[in-house]
Amino acid sequence: MNIRDFLTARLQAAMTAAGAPDDAPPLVTQSTKPQFGDYQANGAMGAAKKLRTNPRALAEATVAALELGDAVEKVEIAGPGFINIHLAPTWLGERLTEVIDAPDLGIVPAEPPQTVVVDYSSPNLAKEMHVGHLRSTIIGDALARLLEHLGHRVIRQNHVGDWGTQFGMLIAHLEDREAETAAETALADLETFYREAKARFDDEPGFADRAREYVVKLQSGDARCLTLWNEFIEISIRHSEAIYDRLNVTLTRADIHAESAYNDALPGIIADLQQQGLAVEDQGAQVVFLEELADKEGKPQAVIVQKSGGGYLYATTDLAALRRRCGELGADRILYFIDARQSLHMQQVFAVGRHAGFCDDATSLEHHPFGTMMGEDGKPFRTRAGGTVKLAELLDEAVTRAGQLVAEKDPDLPTDERSVVARKVGIGAVKYADLSKTRTTDYVFSWDAMLSFEGNTAPYLQYAYSRIRSILRKAGVDPATLDMPVTVEAPQEKALALHLLRFGEVLEQVARDAYPHQLCGYLYELASLYMAFYEACPVLKADDDVLRASRLRLCDGVARTLATGLDLLGIEVMERM
Ligand code: ARG
Repeated sequence: MNIRDFLTARLQAAMTAAGAPDDAPPLVTQSTKPQFGDYQANGAMGAAKKLRTNPRALAEATVAALELGDAVEKVEIAGPGFINIHLAPTWLGERLTEVIDAPDLGIVPAEPPQTVVVDYSSPNLAKEMHVGHLRSTIIGDALARLLEHLGHRVIRQNHVGDWGTQFGMLIAHLEDREAETAAETALADLETFYREAKARFDDEPGFADRAREYVVKLQSGDARCLTLWNEFIEISIRHSEAIYDRLNVTLTRADIHAESAYNDALPGIIADLQQQGLAVEDQGAQVVFLEELADKEGKPQAVIVQKSGGGYLYATTDLAALRRRCGELGADRILYFIDARQSLHMQQVFAVGRHAGFCDDATSLEHHPFGTMMGEDGKPFRTRAGGTVKLAELLDEAVTRAGQLVAEKDPDLPTDERSVVARKVGIGAVKYADLSKTRTTDYVFSWDAMLSFEGNTAPYLQYAYSRIRSILRKAGVDPATLDMPVTVEAPQEKALALHLLRFGEVLEQVARDAYPHQLCGYLYELASLYMAFYEACPVLKADDDVLRASRLRLCDGVARTLATGLDLLGIEVMERM
């Protein structure tokens, strides 16, 4: 049940009956103040402007034609023609009962479902995953989970970087190290391994030539080089998988479609672009000139798709990926979660891809950029020594810090349970701190803020959840067996009911705009409204059994909504903490 959709449909009909043009939207929103009702429709002004009539009169005619039955208590007109709708508590209780009765909280599956490709995480396999990969990995995963939950067919794509010149140097170094030790051991620390290889490349006579020779051999399919490369890639992927596992991220091996997987398609991409007259030779390179991305002087943007030596680029691979996703995978929408610094790259790929017909106009191509994670000093987050922070180490620290916190808060928790709680709280805190910030802006990474039990944090929401669960345990009833209706009487109950009924609306909004902080904000408000309800409305000591049962069901609805919402963000809850 989506109240806003319901009201929009009814108001649209009433406006039409009142003579408004069909294309004038009723503009239904949640009211900002209680005196404006629960929802308000602000469309009368715009419609009246089109008709050149009096907005207030149009609002009155709309209200006269409005059929909302027992859903409303009263409808009022304010100011120049705002329509304020006060919903009836009985009706809200009935709707809420339906939602709580439904195992999936009444989330209506998208109709028709879309095929949505989500490109996320996509680390470069030459190095270990570091904090720079965190945002793409967790924001992308939240969207993949959410779209799936709404019934869409989601195809995750981990476009890992496993090709390019660095791999020559890495496999040459691996070959030498393997003379002393197993590949596993040599690659136990990918970061150190990369640094060693780079140092040899820069300083050791002959090594750089050998590295370059290995790149050529690799490209021409030399068996020995391919074996070394495969070994390297395999171990690097396992490093990423360990991180995904710890982060509770749903990516699997099957979602990897690496850059190298497109190698065979690249010559065809260039040929196709040439045939269509899109790619032309320019100083030996193949270039596509884009008028729509022209600079201030009107000079078209040059996108190199093949270098003068014949080599391909990041953009060429992305064009091949785009063609596969629109063609073979049949995407209706493609979402890319990549750093804002790659915005121009994505614009170029989308523009060339559209011109070339790799994707038709019906397919929505969306780059959802994000800002940088900053340290408390306001500079990009780094180690004290100024190095990149490995994701594995960051997660270790999160769990250690959460463990200390949990030990202070609940010293009686058995040790084995404590370590599980520490993991869920620590990882949840890191993820939530990121997801709850507006995606497009930079944000400051602060351990103290993210691990606080107050404010818009994972621990606050996880704690709210476990408190509700503990109330339900104390009540000694399995809420799933309660089947009496939920009644909405106290103002705190009404506020909570209205908010619970908005869950589906918020999920749809996040699925559309890919801003997970909106879901975080929703959950935070839910927990806060619950706290207000709990203070004002006795649950276990309610006046009578019927009221007690109703309030227990309300508690259950809040707990399940919190758990579902957090799960869609990839954050775990626990019965006790
Ligand atoms: N590997 C790239 C990087 O680390 C990100 C790839 C993103 N996906 C894509 N289709 N370009 O910067």
